Amino acid sequence: MPQLLHRRGPIPLYTQVKEHLRARISGDEASDASRLPSERELAKELGVSRVTVRQALRELIEEGAVFTAPGRGTFAVSARLAPATGRLTSFTQEMIDRGIAPSSRVLAADELVDAHLAEILQVHEDTPLVRIRRLRLGDDEPVAVETSVLPAELCPGIATLDLETRSLYETLRTIYRLRLHASELVVESRQAEWGTAGLLHIAPDSPVLFIERRTLLADGRIAEFVRSWYRPDRYQFRMRLAL
Ligand code: GLP
Repeated sequence: MPQLLHRRGPIPLYTQVKEHLRARISGDEASDASRLPSERELAKELGVSRVTVRQALRELIEEGAVFTAPGRGTFAVSARLAPATGRLTSFTQEMIDRGIAPSSRVLAADELVDAHLAEILQVHEDTPLVRIRRLRLGDDEPVAVETSVLPAELCPGIATLDLETRSLYETLRTIYRLRLHASELVVESRQAEWGTAGLLHIAPDSPVLFIERRTLLADGRIAEFVRSWYRPDRYQFRMRLAL
């Protein structure tokens, strides 16, 4: 049994096992290395019963720190940058929640008029739009490429602000006083095109998690339409459904 575990201490053994596993998971850099040993192996290694290990794992699953893939084992999700369930969060917030340092590189920020995008945003086809394309990083590693399009009148001058070190959503809230209310999104698997693959440091045509999302204000206006290409080994999309 590792020195960390105290049989007679006030902290239940399964809680100690849980914390031990949590520390171990967060020390795991590579997501490929995130598969946990089996229940039996962990019990043997830690010198505790399988029941204790199972209880610790059950709690880690409930907390979203690990997940089980039937027939394949138990995996840590910490390295996969899983978002919080059901909350309308920004990339920045998702990273901070997981103890990862977010940053961005602005690849382009421009104004345009585009009838197709205007239709998606449900504004008149002549409406000036602002488009911001960013590389999103976690602990300085590329995680996603995101292109956000917003009606320019909602956030005049936003393209000139520093969106490398500050959050877009925070900026919309604090500078433009916009209250983001809800998002609708579609997630699908795609192949990374050459340019996106280069930015994400993956081979062209590698699978990426592609997300299209529209975010609405409380009054129903659409504030943002975004297309995101996430590295699937660095980001896992999770949600909780309830009746
Ligand atoms: C998420 C959303 C995007 C949004 C971004 C804002 O990634 N999918 O739609 O643009 O968060 O991130 P931040 O506020 O960190 O700039």
